[in-house]
Amino acid sequence: MLPLAELHVHIEGTLEPELLVRIAQRNGIRLPSYDPDVLRERYAFDRLTDFLDVYYDNIGVLRTAEDFYDLGSGYLRRAARAGVRHAEIFFDPQAHTARGVPIDALFDGLGSALSDARRDGMSAELIMCFLRDSGPDKAMLALEAALPFRDRFIGVGLDSAEVGYPPSLFVDVYARAAAEGLRRVAHAGEEGGPEYVWEALDILGVERIDHGNRALEDPDLVHRLRDQQIPLTVCPLSNLALRTAPPRLADHPLPVMLEEGLRVSVHSDDPAYFGGYIDDNLARVCEALQLGQAATAQLAINSFRSSFAAAERVEAWVADVDAAQAAA
Ligand code: HPA
Ligand code: ZN
Repeated sequence: MLPLAELHVHIEGTLEPELLVRIAQRNGIRLPSYDPDVLRERYAFDRLTDFLDVYYDNIGVLRTAEDFYDLGSGYLRRAARAGVRHAEIFFDPQAHTARGVPIDALFDGLGSALSDARRDGMSAELIMCFLRDSGPDKAMLALEAALPFRDRFIGVGLDSAEVGYPPSLFVDVYARAAAEGLRRVAHAGEEGGPEYVWEALDILGVERIDHGNRALEDPDLVHRLRDQQIPLTVCPLSNLALRTAPPRLADHPLPVMLEEGLRVSVHSDDPAYFGGYIDDNLARVCEALQLGQAATAQLAINSFRSSFAAAERVEAWVADVDAAQAAA
């Protein structure tokens, strides 16, 4: 099995309908149906905001530390089966605290799930994301509310509805996060244009761009990303589901990104909604694009080199990728 680092997965986007039903029943919450297959029928989207409506609706069932533990440990077990050795996992505290869920429930539940995974040999970390469509003032409050748990997460990200909420709005929040020694990433260039990627780099000082597909529209930006080897976390099945790439996987821009010399790796985004975890994303995109073993291994190596793990661990995982490739 090819070793991988998962750098772009929203833990709330791993809420499979079966677990959703189980948690809703446990918490006495009404759902439109208790049949996972019926719930799954709603998972047809035309754009990011259509998806987010369902995503925020569904996560309303998550209330207790036990719920977050079940969510996190279900994902981490699945990730282990996908070959994930290191995971940097997004979570959206504002989407829960705004509903009255205490922030301790998130950190306790997700933290216990991560501890279990670490005990089983996986490396796992959390990155808290700000909901850009809730604005910068709420983001700052969310950061301040999370700082008492500073040792339980390694960085900050920016997600939710992109267009109309440019990165520059969040300059003070990211400056504060940097002052706290937090790593910085942001979704940019998923639906928003290349200028969102520029702002994330120049104004927020992010070290990695989530998605970034639309960067290809701007040759100067491509040059910058290549020169500085700024990582892009690309999510092919998400792009397909949300129509942020052409409708056929065979037309996905990943080969262009590789040819341009960009530091790209493949990830899953919201696997319960978009039809596959990181292994599925990699297998399907490599098959559709007829990427050979060497390119596939390069994507796996990039996933580790784009991570925030310590350099010596990264090099050990890269050696494992080389060994897996040699054995294949
Ligand atoms: N894009 C932006 N925000 C998100 C996503 C996504 O795919 N998933 C959860 N929040
Ligand atoms: Zn995402």
